[in-house]
Amino acid sequence: MLVDILTLFPGIFTGFISESLLAGAVRNGLLTVRLHNMRDWADDKHNTMDDTPAGGGAGMVLKVDRVVPSVEAVQAIDGDAGKLVMLTPQGRTLNQRIAESLAKERRLVLLCGRYEGFDDRVRQILNPDEISIGDYILNGGETAAMVLIETVMRLIPGVLGDRDSSKFDSFSNGNRLLESPQFTRPREYRGLQIPEVLLNGNHAAIEKWRQEQSQKLTRERRPDLFDRERE
Ligand SMILES: C[S@@+](CC[C@H](N)C(=O)[O-])C[C@H]1O[C@@H](n2cnc3c(N)ncnc32)[C@H](O)[C@@H]1O
Repeated sequence: MLVDILTLFPGIFTGFISESLLAGAVRNGLLTVRLHNMRDWADDKHNTMDDTPAGGGAGMVLKVDRVVPSVEAVQAIDGDAGKLVMLTPQGRTLNQRIAESLAKERRLVLLCGRYEGFDDRVRQILNPDEISIGDYILNGGETAAMVLIETVMRLIPGVLGDRDSSKFDSFSNGNRLLESPQFTRPREYRGLQIPEVLLNGNHAAIEKWRQEQSQKLTRERRPDLFDRERE
């Protein structure tokens, strides 16, 4: 997958793409990340990207005549313009189903806001898929883009080895339930034991236990998911 990121702070991504699973995906050619500093499309001597809000009010707004050309130029780098995603608290909330659908794309172009966000005409002109990562406000779209990249990357075949498989993760693989509790050695710690069923090698019994635990946990903690599962 090819991921282009438009940001005013490309340095934020440096560690993110050079560590752990993501670095492996880049090394193995499963992922290419290209960083674009939107400021490169500012054509005045101060590299101005923002201006005061029309009608007054606090903060600064990202200028439509800077952002739109930067996005169009990045989209034109490749034959395929890719799927444009604007990170915004006003978008639909990211979930595993959205991640599964984005993981099928060949190219994602992620647009990160800052300050008070974008001039609304950016959205009107570019018609991006607007995605929020939750009902809270971040300083900028960069951390939201990282969340989106991580959740999508996990679903691309080959990115995770067996030991990190996403198959049984909560919300995953058509399963909208929470994953059952996990244990590893030691068998006993501070008086707490690994459940006996997980130690006896009876795979059918283990599977049954996991399914029951998964249902129980979801009913207790996230009944909304349990209801959705039955729909
Ligand atoms: C400080 S926020 C702007 C918030 C905006 N004034 C509002 O109230 O909707 C600056 C940028 O951070 C990003 N951002 C903030 N919260 C986000 C969230 N929950 N999900 C995705 N992006 C977010 C967006 O790119 C946004 O343009």
